[in-house]
Amino acid sequence: MNAKSQLQNAIDAALQGVDISGVAPETLQVARATNPQFGDYQWNGALPLAKALKMKPRDIAADVLARLDVSDIAETPEIAGAGFLNFRIKTSWLGNALDEAARSERLGVARVAKSRRIVIDYPSPNVAKPLHVGHIRTTFIGDAVARLLRFAGHQVVSDNHIGDWGTPVGKVIVGWKKYRDEAAFERAPLDEMGRLYALVNEACERERAAMEEARLETAKLQSGDAENRAIWEILRAGSLPQLNALWARVGVQTDEILGESFYQPMLAEVIEELKAKGVATESQGALIIPFEDDAHLSDKPMMVRKSDGSALYATTDLATVKYRMERWAPDEIIYVVDARQSDHFRQLFAAAKKWGYREVRFKHVAFGTILGEDGKPISTRAGVTSKLETLLDEAQKRATAMAREKNPALPDAQGAEIGRVVGIGALKYADLAPNRTSDYGFSWDKMLATQGNAAPYLQYAYARIQSIFRKAQSEGIEMENAPIRLVEASEIALGKQITRFGEAIDAALVDYRPNALCDYLYELAGSFAAFYRDCPVTQAGAEVRLSRLALCDLTARVLQTGLGLLGIETLEQM
Ligand code: ARG
Repeated sequence: MNAKSQLQNAIDAALQGVDISGVAPETLQVARATNPQFGDYQWNGALPLAKALKMKPRDIAADVLARLDVSDIAETPEIAGAGFLNFRIKTSWLGNALDEAARSERLGVARVAKSRRIVIDYPSPNVAKPLHVGHIRTTFIGDAVARLLRFAGHQVVSDNHIGDWGTPVGKVIVGWKKYRDEAAFERAPLDEMGRLYALVNEACERERAAMEEARLETAKLQSGDAENRAIWEILRAGSLPQLNALWARVGVQTDEILGESFYQPMLAEVIEELKAKGVATESQGALIIPFEDDAHLSDKPMMVRKSDGSALYATTDLATVKYRMERWAPDEIIYVVDARQSDHFRQLFAAAKKWGYREVRFKHVAFGTILGEDGKPISTRAGVTSKLETLLDEAQKRATAMAREKNPALPDAQGAEIGRVVGIGALKYADLAPNRTSDYGFSWDKMLATQGNAAPYLQYAYARIQSIFRKAQSEGIEMENAPIRLVEASEIALGKQITRFGEAIDAALVDYRPNALCDYLYELAGSFAAFYRDCPVTQAGAEVRLSRLALCDLTARVLQTGLGLLGIETLEQM
């Protein structure tokens, strides 16, 4: 168990019998020390408690301290300032924790005590046209969250809820009937669909009649028209392999791909049920779910059937909730979708609760927009490679060139492999490192930096350690599972950072923010750099050398596992 949880348990035990009902639980949490001068961890809970109990914070701190037993993990804590408890980790605990981590496949990270069943909905793009830059966020964030949850010990079902049924598809059907180029479709189905979509979409923007036509073809598809259904089958059969190949290229594979089309046969029954239960009511020919008792939604009812009888995105999403509940009985359903859909999800969650799904937790993991250098959303900018495939090509090309520059003698195949791992890793990391809810600026230079908070820097740290091992091996140094014993300050700092891996995973899972893990890995790579600068490894005396090699190995494994949880690969040599 990591130091933080161990300290927390001790604090919780010391608080037994104290009335904590008046304070917010998160204010009683042990936290990383804000300044390493004061120690490694701190507990500030005496302050809010003092307020609630009308006592002096220092008295409470002294009281807690008197009952606190942290002797196997920390030096005797001091009370500081207004009543903070500062903890300094014992080197003996640290050595044992590192040895234990080195022996364990999970690097000392405990599984959650209670494993939950979780459905996660990503990347769920609309598939009438090629994927574009705008799709990387749901793909990479969703994948990282799914991997983190699995590692933590939850039972995860990932479901790619592709949009294969709405008006965009209707537009492609119009285009297919009028302008299709079957040879082009054979070659690259999504591109041909994209071309047809663009042609028709442009016409729709110009003339009402074109829009009417697209609506009509969509409605025909949705009401079971044989011709449109057949075209739809062709489009789907053609495009799915191309989509799957693209997802495979970025290492993303979901357990299910149940698109919107999958739920169409269930919609009528869902609508009936919503009516019968009084959840939905008729309003001017349409069927809506009102939310009078919700301040944010009171003027935003959710429409589940239009006055022309057709169902909507929201109707499909309600059917999807029902299906998921019946099939997997999840404790939680997570939707990794653009923040611009937050009203839709508020409505959906409120509607599902009214419908009776009250036990399950619904969570919208929202994210901001990727901006170009001009501050505008990158996917709408002219001239930017907005097709995802082109973007991946470009990332790989740039990363390959970088590797070549560093080592002109690099064989072609190896250069390409480095380019792939570094290029795609850089794109992913750039997307995961910022807080997901903020917008971020797209910059090749920043994401491909070999110094600073970027994937190549972390991948280099891993590769560098592997090169230390190669050197050690060439010098005939045996690597055995030696105990890790730390002496130098930067060595101790690295050791402490390694033991915080589990804390970083916990932090990333609190509100599904992979950036907490990015921050951790970046700090770990920094600690390693400082250690490597200060402490000789292969040149050190026999016993110290073995301990340091083991420390290097553990660092590399944490880097590799951590990057792996972000969906990022590592290389033995760069
Ligand atoms: N296809 C939608 C879009 O591209 C996102 C779907 C998200 N998932 C869901 N269950 N609504 O905007």
